[in-house]
Amino acid sequence: MYPEFSLLAAALLVCGEATPHPKPNAPVSRDFKRSDPYADWPSYSQLPLDPSYPTKAAWGVRGANDTLGALNHITNITIQVAAREVKLGWAFNLNLDVNQFVTPINTNRKPLTHLYQPGDGYTDDVIMLNTQISTQFDGLRHFPYSTNASVDTYQWYNNLIPSYDDVIGPAPTTVLGIQEAAQFGIAGRGVLLDWAGWAATQNITFDAFQGREITVAELDATAAWQGLPAGNWSLPGDILLIRTGWIAQYHALTELERETLPWSGIDSVGMLASDDSLEWLWDKKLAFVGADNPAFESLPFNKTINGVAMSLHQVFIGGWGQSIVEFLNLEMLASALHQQGRSTFFLTLQNLNVVSGIASPPNAMAII
Ligand SMILES: *[C@@H]1O[C@H](CO)[C@@H](O)[C@H](O)[C@H]1NC(C)=O
Ligand SMILES: *[C@@H]1O[C@H](CO)[C@@H](O)[C@H](O)[C@H]1NC(C)=O
Ligand SMILES: *[C@@H]1O[C@H](CO)[C@@H](O)[C@H](O)[C@H]1NC(C)=O
Ligand SMILES: *[C@@H]1O[C@H](CO)[C@@H](O)[C@H](O)[C@H]1NC(C)=O
Ligand SMILES: *[C@@H]1O[C@H](CO)[C@@H](O)[C@H](O)[C@H]1NC(C)=O
Ligand SMILES: *[C@@H]1O[C@H](CO)[C@@H](O)[C@H](O)[C@H]1NC(C)=O
Repeated sequence: MYPEFSLLAAALLVCGEATPHPKPNAPVSRDFKRSDPYADWPSYSQLPLDPSYPTKAAWGVRGANDTLGALNHITNITIQVAAREVKLGWAFNLNLDVNQFVTPINTNRKPLTHLYQPGDGYTDDVIMLNTQISTQFDGLRHFPYSTNASVDTYQWYNNLIPSYDDVIGPAPTTVLGIQEAAQFGIAGRGVLLDWAGWAATQNITFDAFQGREITVAELDATAAWQGLPAGNWSLPGDILLIRTGWIAQYHALTELERETLPWSGIDSVGMLASDDSLEWLWDKKLAFVGADNPAFESLPFNKTINGVAMSLHQVFIGGWGQSIVEFLNLEMLASALHQQGRSTFFLTLQNLNVVSGIASPPNAMAII
């Protein structure tokens, strides 16, 4: 989520000012082995490995040429352990209707175009989809670091994309494309933190369409309320999902209210973009994170982390190669987990296999 980027970039390209400026891959890097991924694993305070890298970037942590990023936390063993979460066989779709937001929250992002194309003895349909309009998996081409929101300063994961033309030009390269995350076969143990559920028990009232910031202390309190062991409820390779109450508030609107909602920018409840949040998440070695809100973190993106990064998006995607899943529908899952006194589940996610793609509907499913 950062509409200004694409508009500005498009304008610069039209003016012909965005020239390729090749950069080296991350030259300072570790020797990374998937068989022993956490040997000599850097602590949060040791990031970045080289002072010239952007704020808290994990460039080089998995070698200079790694393109999988945080998905490297998923191994055959983590999937085997995650599969033990299937106890009842109850499966939940976590995806909203791809055309859920008939009035777009971000007006740059048009609703789905869906056409029927009848044939002789069969029927087809054709969709044109902005991958950011509904439940979405943000791939590693979606969100670079940049100091001034200008393509001149874009820096993607591991510094692997030299130029913005390589992403949106007439002959884009494939590096860091969504096909990498589509081929990988994403499955793991999900942990749901129902912050909105906890907030209700604390009589905390909030408007999900304003920038209510969720802190690490509140998430720890949520975990404790759910009965999870203090400071020890996640495993490397887990996927953390946060229920912020955004979708619940949206679904409570009438049809008319949805159509006429005066989106005040795209403000939203979400995790606070801060150094504390980043350290808390880095230590958990998560494969990716997700939430039922527009951006996982609170909006607007008006914070500053360590002076340079302006959002969790920049550090997650550009820095750690860690994707974000947004607008998840966690309502049924949350209610089933509460009923069962559980917080964990088996999660699978299958992105569209679009070469050089930027994001995808996640086709996410939870099984408990
Ligand atoms: C990364 O790839 C480049 C280009 O293929 C190669 O020269 C370099 O040695 C690789 N670096 C590592 C750490 O594997
Ligand atoms: C799982 O095991 C297979 C077969 O040994 C191997 O090819 C694959 O790389 C492993 N996957 C992960 C994620 O470790
Ligand atoms: C952004 O910063 C870069 C590097 O300092 C500079 O070259 C460029 O002109 C700036 N662009 C805008 C639009 O401010
Ligand atoms: C929340 O409000 C209810 C009803 O007023 C009250 O009984 C309860 O003690 C409050 N809980 C907290 C945590 O403040
Ligand atoms: C954390 O929990 C795991 C099991 O989930 C257990 O094996 C480990 O000993 C616990 N660690 C601490 C420090 O309590
Ligand atoms: C960010 O925006 C929110 C909501 O508009 C506002 O309350 C907050 O003060 C702003 N913070 C900064 C650091 O500008």
